[in-house]
Amino acid sequence: MKISIIGTGYVGLITGVCFAELGNNVICIDINEEKVNKINSGEPTIYERGLEEIFKKNLERIKASLNFNEILNTDITFICVSTPENPDGSINLDYIKSASESVGKVLKEKGYHLVVVKSTVVPETTEKVVIPILEKFSEKNVGEDFGVCMNPEFLKEGSAIKDFMEPDRIVIGEFDKKSGDMLFNLYKDFKCPILRTDLKTAEMIKYASNAFLSMKISFINEMGNICKKLGINIYKVAEGMGYDERIGHKFLRAGPGFGGSCFKKDVNALIKKAESLGYEPKILKSVLEVNERQPLKMIELLKKYLQNLKNKKIGVLGLSFKPETDDIRESPAIKIVKKLLEEEAIVNAYDPKAMNNFKKLFPNINYFSSAQDCIENSEAVLIVTDWDEFKDLDYSDKIVIDGRYIISKEKAKIYEGICW
Ligand code: UGA
Repeated sequence: MKISIIGTGYVGLITGVCFAELGNNVICIDINEEKVNKINSGEPTIYERGLEEIFKKNLERIKASLNFNEILNTDITFICVSTPENPDGSINLDYIKSASESVGKVLKEKGYHLVVVKSTVVPETTEKVVIPILEKFSEKNVGEDFGVCMNPEFLKEGSAIKDFMEPDRIVIGEFDKKSGDMLFNLYKDFKCPILRTDLKTAEMIKYASNAFLSMKISFINEMGNICKKLGINIYKVAEGMGYDERIGHKFLRAGPGFGGSCFKKDVNALIKKAESLGYEPKILKSVLEVNERQPLKMIELLKKYLQNLKNKKIGVLGLSFKPETDDIRESPAIKIVKKLLEEEAIVNAYDPKAMNNFKKLFPNINYFSSAQDCIENSEAVLIVTDWDEFKDLDYSDKIVIDGRYIISKEKAKIYEGICW
């Protein structure tokens, strides 16, 4: 099939490249000239494990353009623009609206075409925002002249290619059967369950999934905080819980809280949506509250040993929100470093990939070229991200606050686990 992708950010590029790998011709449309040029010169615009390889393999089938008229040569358009947060936590649909307008204008000149919303949008957005804009600018009718689907993404940074190619499930929210059949046809060779729903159910599946995963983390962190007071290791507790098939082992790793560009933003957007409907979502609010406090537990533990942090050299190992990425958005390390600086500590930091990004936020802390150097120059060390390389370092004469359960207590002079 011929596919256009609107927005060449993380989701757009992965989606485009993976559809090309499956034999489709893909045109990536973006308003950012630099991104378009980069793609056309054969380079991906983002880093993701395995992406460059399949991108280069499929160069013949991937092109980029600034021109929305390219949609005219395609059968399906995926809207993959970002949906950031407004200052009050609600979803900002500006990019969705302008993308819908640009697509609508092109549809005016086109025969039947399928528009698929892949961006994460709160329930009712496709129906109440996207479709009316498409109809207005195309001067055509949904269902008759064009079709609409909502097809959420479930990609994790670091394993996004695999998540796309071997998904747990595919969700097709459809305006009508004709739209759904067309998208189903694109996914027909996938071996996973394909769930067909209406538009707002598909939108809600994405939010409920991210909210549930965030809740699992805040739940295990809360259990972990109780365990810590009782001298119990939460990792043993989680193991014991996980054998119950209804609970499962995954996503029960206690630590300094979740980061990343999605969980907090999506839970906040769902809270705002619920409130706009007159419902107060208590669990969702607690999920964020627990997560807000969690990184600072590491500093509370540190203060058991260093009551006053002023002028104390504190090493922070791991700045990205999870390993194998340079992404620091909402990383627990940000809250930790902020607090250390408030307490006038001297902050030493190391991360294998994320230091350049972190320097933009904190230009004046000390960055080290190796984790061991960072440790040697610090009195105490906080392990914030679970990078593998932090497992086998020499911590023998240091105070270590381990946020990720990655070293054994014998390795440090003084050892405290955040929840164990
Ligand atoms: C998350 C979801 O996992 C994806 O399914 C979803 O598609 C994506 O958001 C999105 O909405 O786009 P991602 O943000 O890449 O993916 O990262 P995760 O692997 O889910 O990790 C998020 C955070 O939770 C990390 O800071 C991680 O350290 C933390 N985490 C995860 C824990 O603290 N404990 C766990 O047991 C698992």
